[in-house]
Amino acid sequence: MYVLGMESSCDETSAAVVEMGDTGRKIRSNIVASQIDVHRLYGGVVPEIASRAHIEAVTGITHEALETAGIALSDIGAIAVTTHPGLIGALLVGVNFAKSLAYANNIPLVSVNHIHAHIAAAYLTHEDLKPPFLALVVSGGHTCFYRVKDYTAFELIGGTRDDAAGEAFDKIGRVIGMPYPGGSALDKLAYEGNANALKLPSPALTDGLDLSFSGIKTAVLNYINGAKQKGEEINPADIAASYTKKIVDALVKKTDSALKVTGMKTLVIAGGVAANSHLRADLETLCTKRGVRLAMPERSLCGDNGAMVASAGYYDYLSGARADTSLNASAFD
Ligand code: KG4
Ligand code: ZN
Repeated sequence: MYVLGMESSCDETSAAVVEMGDTGRKIRSNIVASQIDVHRLYGGVVPEIASRAHIEAVTGITHEALETAGIALSDIGAIAVTTHPGLIGALLVGVNFAKSLAYANNIPLVSVNHIHAHIAAAYLTHEDLKPPFLALVVSGGHTCFYRVKDYTAFELIGGTRDDAAGEAFDKIGRVIGMPYPGGSALDKLAYEGNANALKLPSPALTDGLDLSFSGIKTAVLNYINGAKQKGEEINPADIAASYTKKIVDALVKKTDSALKVTGMKTLVIAGGVAANSHLRADLETLCTKRGVRLAMPERSLCGDNGAMVASAGYYDYLSGARADTSLNASAFD
């Protein structure tokens, strides 16, 4: 069955055609129109600009997704669209477009949770992957652990109490002069610095599976301001290396606890920060040590894209979920 997946929750407009079925999961097209260059001027996503850019892109990228896949709209079995969580104006563009397309062409419509879609990206890279498993979602807006009991059954078991990991990377990236979003630039820069150069607090809280990134972020900001006041040069590579190490160590430590608590033998990581090479390497080491299967989506599927929405939407469709013209977007989870 061909599923058209549509994503517009933040700063990427995406449409994808994915062939989903018992025998495999194949991406036929996955077109992503990124707005990063526009938002870079402001050092972060400007919601109103994002909504307008989605409106400009959505029709063209949907045509392109169908054309690249070589699939007619009449061959699409379901349209899956991200409805929550995200920027409300941005989400509404995708939701209204998908609703109209589905209604006008009599195609079943399915509402998709953006975080569940990030997790479903792993099904596209690992065709044999099946729940149950533990999922660590690390994105610009979320950092959380889920017990994934079934394709459509998720239990939130821990996560950040304040900033998300991606947000924490982006904020420090901006302060040390990296272009927005700073996550991938910090990832590369960290290889050039000394990971023990700065003394930083750990984001891993002692309680359960929770984390907090506000303390480490403030510690780095204080370090930079202190150096400036004393007229000392800062070394961005040392900051990137020390900061990344603490964040990655905390995520690995909590993942280890989550594996122990849940007894899960498979770990899925998902979201933009799941592309981080240090995190991927350290989780590989952890999973090898613990005898756990690590199913990571390929790096190109970690950021926001329509294929992951189609993947999640397919399982919602199979569970019988259908949306009608009353479908709305929500900023919240
Ligand atoms: O999942 P995503 O595309 O959007 C949200 O749903 O939030 O995640 C975007 C986040 C940004 O904060 C970006 O800096 C971060 O993912 N990111 C990375 C890397 N690539 C993207 N963070 C660390 N290392 C990377 N390689
Ligand atoms: Zn996302």
